[in-house]
Amino acid sequence: MSPSHISTTPTSAIAVDYRRPSAPDGHRLWEIASDSKVLDVNSSYAYVLWCNDFAATSIVAEIDSRPIGFVTGYRRPEDPTVLMVWQVAVDHDARGRGVAAGMLHRLFDRCAHDDGVVALHTTISPDNQASRRLFASVAAARGLQFRREKFFAAELFPDSHESEDLYRLEPSATSPSD
Ligand SMILES: CC(C)(COP(=O)(O)OP(=O)(O)OC[C@H]1O[C@@H](n2cnc3c(N)ncnc32)[C@H](O)[C@@H]1OP(=O)(O)O)[C@@H](O)C(=O)NCCC(=O)NCCS
Repeated sequence: MSPSHISTTPTSAIAVDYRRPSAPDGHRLWEIASDSKVLDVNSSYAYVLWCNDFAATSIVAEIDSRPIGFVTGYRRPEDPTVLMVWQVAVDHDARGRGVAAGMLHRLFDRCAHDDGVVALHTTISPDNQASRRLFASVAAARGLQFRREKFFAAELFPDSHESEDLYRLEPSATSPSD
């Protein structure tokens, strides 16, 4: 079984499968993002395109063959050893069982193995404590530093979008000096 398709049974005793997405998953990812009521919901086309062209840096979690969570990501163009996580979401009913952390760990492992990725970046708005806790937990479990820096100010956005801070999960040796 490939690292991208691993079956686990978390503490909740619900079997979760993890795999790469493909274009037909885009529809369901769009639904999960919409249902979250928290994420910026991109067009359905964006999710189909992402599942097709960025499958190598994305992952879905499913129960009984139905996707219940996803992570979309890409390797940063200026440093392809960094995986930038764009969106993470888990269906309400499946939350609190380690699914999001499970996806991030598997995706990180896959990208490290296949592409030499050594660090993970993401942006988080100041009010998203769940997201901050999730990435802090993943950083701690992997022995990575967890650093925040200012990234996109709210003024950059044409709507009421909040600012987005950049969070860097990196080994100490590659962390920038302050
Ligand atoms: C954030 C989200 C993906 C977490 O999914 P999940 O599967 O419930 O997360 P996990 O069970 O893997 O939890 C991982 C860690 O995050 C913490 N965490 C998860 N949800 C949390 C919450 N609402 N409040 C505080 N901590 C939370 C867990 O306690 C755990 O930490 P621990 O390992 O120290 O115990 C999910 O709540 C969600 O889809 N939210 C809406 C979309 C969103 O905000 N995405 C993130 C921004 S892109």
